[in-house]
Amino acid sequence: MTNDRRWHRRLWAWLDDRIGLAPVADLASKKEVPIHRHSIWYYLGGMSLFLFLCQLVSGVLLLFYYRPSAGEAFESVQFIMAEVEFGWLIRSIHAWAANLMVFTVFIHLFSVFLLKAYRPPRDLTWMSGVVLFVLTLAFGFTGYLLPWNELAYFATKVGTEIVGVVPVIGGFMRTLARGGEDVTGATLTRFYAIHVAILPAFMILLIGLHVMLVQRHGMSVPPDIERDGSIRGYMKFVPNFALRDVVGWLVALAALGAAAAFFPAHLGDKADAFAPAPVGIKPEWYFMYMFHTLKLLPAHILGLEGEILGVMAFALAGLFLLLVPVLDRRRGPGEASRLFTVIALAMIVYIIVLTIMGYTANPVQ
Ligand code: HEM
Repeated sequence: MTNDRRWHRRLWAWLDDRIGLAPVADLASKKEVPIHRHSIWYYLGGMSLFLFLCQLVSGVLLLFYYRPSAGEAFESVQFIMAEVEFGWLIRSIHAWAANLMVFTVFIHLFSVFLLKAYRPPRDLTWMSGVVLFVLTLAFGFTGYLLPWNELAYFATKVGTEIVGVVPVIGGFMRTLARGGEDVTGATLTRFYAIHVAILPAFMILLIGLHVMLVQRHGMSVPPDIERDGSIRGYMKFVPNFALRDVVGWLVALAALGAAAAFFPAHLGDKADAFAPAPVGIKPEWYFMYMFHTLKLLPAHILGLEGEILGVMAFALAGLFLLLVPVLDRRRGPGEASRLFTVIALAMIVYIIVLTIMGYTANPVQ
């Protein structure tokens, strides 16, 4: 045994005596991942986690120079892009990883939906996941405003206006989000606090719960695999599956670095509340299907305002997603639930079609 190994063992024993690492090591060494034709989808949760960690690291680095006020935010981002060593790269990685994380979380959500991994005892894992999905979108929405550029300013105006149409509580929620009647420096400071303190705190707690539940219940076996008994075997989580996870993360990191280097994030012009709204205001791509749905709805449907109905429909769809494990009563081992497969597929098709329609109706400037 080399000196290194002895040192390593002594450190482990020292930590184990104090914080008790043995149960964690025991859990990790026992965990096994089923191998079958859908196993690829098991990597997406870990990929979402990795991209979130990229966001934490790059976000903290940006905080060293970013200033959250209407007078300084845009200039501080300009400074990061032009003067700070590799500042442009860190900002671009933060922007790209945000998009990639939303994309990965979308796919993780719909893959576990289609594989019916939400069935008890994983119902709470699913529900914590739906909240993580909403928090991921909230990260995107609040972060978009922080550079205080023209497009983000007007997109936030439109976005918070939409919140305002919700009956009864809408007006209050709009004022709460904006920190007043209009989008101003107060909104920026508020979004900043939410983006860098409140959301990360909730997200870290919730990811902790989510991953703990995954460890507790192990990976689910999809009903069709259960039915035809096509499991090809089991893979040890440590080291075999974890190392494959790491390979995926390194590929994602390389793709992120390349995307950030070749297509750095834009900044545009500084926000000006008195300037006319620029043409082609558009939300981030992951809000486009909602934005375009609201645009397509007629002004009035059955005497009710179309926009209100649209917003309420999306709120109900969110509630429906949360309650999927309760609503789907087919949960026996290997039991198919075709209705929920059709609903998941219909949602995917709806999101893709409305997003494409949104971009064809508002060509990118
Ligand atoms: C920040 C976002 C998220 C992170 C970091 C995350 C992380 C993870 C990880 C590491 C796993 C284990 C590996 C895997 O099955 O992929 C997992 C599993 C799972 N996740 Fe997520 N997740 C996130 C969002 C979501 C969302 C949006 C949902 C669905 C609404 C969800 C539902 C589930 C379920 C049901 C499982 C268990 C899968 C199974 O046992 O087969 N997660 N998640």
